[in-house]
Amino acid sequence: MKTVAVLSLLASLASAASLTLVTENFGPNPRNNPFYIYVPDVLPPNPAILVNPHWCHGTAPAAFSGSQYATLASQHGFIVIYPQSSPAQANSDKCWDVSSKETLTHNGGGDSLGVVSMVKWTINKYNADPKRVFVTGVSSGGMMTQVLLGSYPDVFAAGAAFAGVPFGCFAPAGNNTGAFGYWSDDCAKGRVTKTPAQWADLVKSAYPGYDGWRPKLQLFHGTNDEILDYVNHQEGIKQWAEVLGVGITPVSVTPNTPISGWTKSVYGAEGWLEGYSAAGVPHDIRVQEATVMAFFELACKGEDCFRWGDSEWCDAEPSATTSSVVVSMTGAPVTTTSTSSTSVRVTTPSATSTSSRVTTTFVTSTSTAAPVAGQPLWAQCGGMGFNGPTACAVGTCTIYNPYYAQVNPQ
Ligand SMILES: *[C@@H]1O[C@H](CO)[C@@H](O)[C@H](O)[C@H]1NC(C)=O
Repeated sequence: MKTVAVLSLLASLASAASLTLVTENFGPNPRNNPFYIYVPDVLPPNPAILVNPHWCHGTAPAAFSGSQYATLASQHGFIVIYPQSSPAQANSDKCWDVSSKETLTHNGGGDSLGVVSMVKWTINKYNADPKRVFVTGVSSGGMMTQVLLGSYPDVFAAGAAFAGVPFGCFAPAGNNTGAFGYWSDDCAKGRVTKTPAQWADLVKSAYPGYDGWRPKLQLFHGTNDEILDYVNHQEGIKQWAEVLGVGITPVSVTPNTPISGWTKSVYGAEGWLEGYSAAGVPHDIRVQEATVMAFFELACKGEDCFRWGDSEWCDAEPSATTSSVVVSMTGAPVTTTSTSSTSVRVTTPSATSTSSRVTTTFVTSTSTAAPVAGQPLWAQCGGMGFNGPTACAVGTCTIYNPYYAQVNPQ
């Protein structure tokens, strides 16, 4: 039976890839985190990487068999890294280190540095795309997702955390240097609440001075979570909405998405932050692979994919000169925030699927030395189809999206 022979050959080829423990030195790994990897037999030239940290009491092999990501990786051609918590915690709860100063600091050490070393090794070894590195996990893996996004915004393009807690929520009060494996009952029980600014400060202080790409994020949480209280969902929204500058009021709320009883809230016009409240769901929340895959665009190939990690910083001259910012993008709106009087942040947009690539040119102008003729405060100063003056008499021209820029103070 020729067909049968071919089919069984295909089946054996398809099953050739397997979960593999990487035993060679892969870079700084201060807590000796084991590194498991799943590399499909067939990969595109620059594959994406998905990091999938396990839950407490879990292991890398358990995470591997606990979701469809490996199967999806073979189907769509991306690599999955399954890191494992430190052997130092093997006999206790096998949770991730989400509490120490080390793990909560960029290049500070801890579990987060070990995981980042795994990512960098994989990028080099498989010529993976450094702009398409994603992380998703459940419970302790959801906490670790937020730790990695906060400590290494330069490494991760986006994350999806299920039933986790905000970045820094598990850190003990006071000196957390060396505070590995600390269980914060206060955070778990939802007794740690902060303002958006306070939460964002925790993230920003993890990597002082960093002003590049900030990862997109999905947060999923059951309203009946008995282990990590649902309060942590709202606190997480506050934290990441502030970090991303999108505001804590959702721009859209959609019931029964992606499944019955779950409510999807989108924060910011460009959809950089999504929150999913799962009504009545306990800590044991179901992973939504399809929703995460779509957010990360892991099935996308070719020209029309979202250009992850493309963010440019343009330092406007302090004198009355004009600088132009060219934003090349996938056709979706651009998110822009003005951060100071001399710089304008231009970040490429969210993953709205589009088929054409558009190049938009904005001209911004600032003047601190001497007032120049131009648009007054609050007036439009740029955007597609706008033919008026792009110079500002005062303040700076802040680009909100490809269609609109406005003169703001500073
Ligand atoms: C914080 O704790 C570490 C480890 O116990 C210790 O080495 C360090 O001196 C402490 N730092 C401060 C400021 O107390």
